Amino acid sequence: MIVKTDQDLKGIMEAGKVAAEILHKMAKRIRPGITTGQLDKIGEEMMLRYGANSAPKVSYNFPGATCISILPEVAHGIPGSREIKAGDLVNIDVSIELNGYYGDNGMSIPVELEDERVLKLCQVGQEARAAAIAAAKPGGKINEIGKAVELVVKSHGYTVIKNLCGHGLGRKLHEAPENILNYYSKYERGKINPGQVLALEPFISEGPELVKDGGYDEWALVVPQGFYVVQFEHTIIVMEGGTIVTTVQPE
Ligand code: CO
Ligand code: CO
Repeated sequence: MIVKTDQDLKGIMEAGKVAAEILHKMAKRIRPGITTGQLDKIGEEMMLRYGANSAPKVSYNFPGATCISILPEVAHGIPGSREIKAGDLVNIDVSIELNGYYGDNGMSIPVELEDERVLKLCQVGQEARAAAIAAAKPGGKINEIGKAVELVVKSHGYTVIKNLCGHGLGRKLHEAPENILNYYSKYERGKINPGQVLALEPFISEGPELVKDGGYDEWALVVPQGFYVVQFEHTIIVMEGGTIVTTVQPE
């Protein structure tokens, strides 16, 4: 959506704030032994308390309040009876609807995983997201976003998952512009309007460039074993006076 009124601005900001609070509460509670279902319950209860709805549930009938994926799953994992173990790389993605507005954010969390490789990848993943946000300019081209992500990622010898993309959102979880690539394409011709609400979520990979079905459940998207992949996602509003990140980590 394009934010045009104070009410829109307030609605999008609130939804982002609540989505971020839930994500970071869940991230804090992650530890070996907790099941993905228990973790999801924490998110679900917070949504209830805020009067928010799970966006994947209301939008796609997703069987969980949040998406929790354990590598080699990288996205859309269904929470359930699986226990998180030391050494897991877990991705939590929280998207919510609050008073008709949407917020979407996600992060990858190494669980007692002391591996230089994954720590570095997480650092670059956050750097790539920051570059994506900085590249989204009012009146600018959408393909500047992918270009900026690619520049960061390649300089560290990594790549991106090409079939997972950022997206517009606001009154729905997925709106135009759909499929914001995380790499440069001259065929991606769209422009960014002032007030545009976007979810930017580069998936940074040690090698594989595509995810496919075939995870633990029918929703999860996976990569081949042996590679780390991380995702960091923020919702932003690209305003004339400067971009607002709606899903900043709560203090
Ligand atoms: Co998300
Ligand atoms: Co998203």
